[in-house]
Amino acid sequence: MALLKIARMGHPILMKPAEYIEDPTDPALAQLAVDMFETMFDAPGVGLAGPQVHVSRRIVVYYIPEDRGDDPEPDAFPPTVLINPVLEPLDTVSQGSTSVMREACLSLPGMSGLVRRHKRIGLTAQNLQGQTIERELDGFHARIVQHECDHLDGIVYPMRMDDLSSFGYDSERPELSEDEE
Ligand code: NI
Repeated sequence: MALLKIARMGHPILMKPAEYIEDPTDPALAQLAVDMFETMFDAPGVGLAGPQVHVSRRIVVYYIPEDRGDDPEPDAFPPTVLINPVLEPLDTVSQGSTSVMREACLSLPGMSGLVRRHKRIGLTAQNLQGQTIERELDGFHARIVQHECDHLDGIVYPMRMDDLSSFGYDSERPELSEDEE
C-alpha cells in the first residue's frame, strides 16, 4: 500500500494519451489499482486515472459514495477498476442528451467548473481478471466515468467547458450552488 503523488494540471503526463494495457491480469497492475484506491480515498476524491498518478496507462478507479448519488442515478456504486475503457454516447447530440454540472478534479485541487457531458453512455472495459465489462450508465455515474476516461486521452475538464466564467477556486465562491439543467 502506498500513497501516490498526484500530477496537477500543467504536468505533461496529463496532456498525452495513455497506453493501452496488454495484460489486465498483470499482478503489478492489481497493486497499482490498490495504491490508486488508497490515494483516491486519502485525497479524498471519487475517481482517479493512471496519468494522474504519473502512470500513462489506460486504467481508471472510481466509486460513487452514498451522499453523491445525484438523480437520476441515486445509488451508491462500489469501488471499481476499469482497464482500457471505451465509451459511446447512447443518444445523438440533441437537446436533452447532455447535462451541465459542476466538476472538480484531484489534478486541480480547490477548483471547479461547469462541464457539459452526455447523460447516457455505453461502457466497455476489462477488469483485473481480464473479463469484459459492458454497461449502460447514466446520471452522475456516466459523468464520473466520462471525466476519468478523458484523463486517458489527455483531456482535463476545463478543456470541456463551454464557458470559463464558472471556473475558479471554490474558496472564493461562497455561494457554491448545484447548478444547471
Ligand atoms: Ni480528474
